[in-house]
Amino acid sequence: MIRLDSVQRRYVSEEVETTALYDVDLAVETGEFVAIMGPSGCGKSTLLNILGTVDRPTGGRYRFGEQELAALAEPALARFRAETLGFVFQSFNLIDELTVEENVALGLAYRGSRAQARRARVAEAMDRVGIAHRSRHYPHQLSGGQQQRAAIARAIVGDPKLILADEPTGNLDTENGAQVMNILAGLNEGGATIVMVTHSPSHADMAKRRIDMLDGRVIASALRAI
Ligand SMILES: Nc1ncnc2c1ncn2[C@@H]1O[C@H](COP(=O)(O)OP(=O)(O)O)[C@@H](O)[C@H]1O
Ligand SMILES: [Mg+2]
Repeated sequence: MIRLDSVQRRYVSEEVETTALYDVDLAVETGEFVAIMGPSGCGKSTLLNILGTVDRPTGGRYRFGEQELAALAEPALARFRAETLGFVFQSFNLIDELTVEENVALGLAYRGSRAQARRARVAEAMDRVGIAHRSRHYPHQLSGGQQQRAAIARAIVGDPKLILADEPTGNLDTENGAQVMNILAGLNEGGATIVMVTHSPSHADMAKRRIDMLDGRVIASALRAI
């Protein structure tokens, strides 16, 4: 599904130059569940942002299926993101002024289906993560775990080919973190491809493959022993 070849990301400002990624090669196949681990500042979010096309590599190639993404201009990338990707963040990133249901519907933004079909998809996504009973609530009326489940519903409502999750359990207690991980593992069982950054070794163990990063490089990739 994904091929990164010698992907590099350098930040240049007037005083300093930082290399967040050095020559990263990475392939992710359809149906994989990959956990990315590594110390703070090693480039995990940069890598995920590049996979999510919200950041561009300063060198190397990124192919998604047959598409060379470096060649696409922003409007085409925005469409690609909306049609192909689902994002889950550490801080949930729900819109405070919208209900759960309305937040989840945002995940359908560019997927033009009829109102009734859209409502059915939103209801189904909320159901899958066990948040349907809170559909009319606003984010501040929910626990962190419920907010993250709503955010996952928003990520999956459009049936994305790839789910990108950056420390999805980082702001959650053990029990809510476990719930979120069970949802992600269930989505993967159902065929979703997932790339997740985590600091938790036990959560990384729920993925099928673990990638370790250090100082802007991938230093190890190992399939989970079963
Ligand atoms: N916008 C930016 N400008 C300059 N440096 C950045 C920027 N974003 C990230 N970096 C640097 O890139 C490196 C990797 O950051 P990041 O990918 O966020 O790490 P991680 O997610 O592993 O903690 C860090 O050294 C960070 O300071
Ligand atoms: Mg990060």
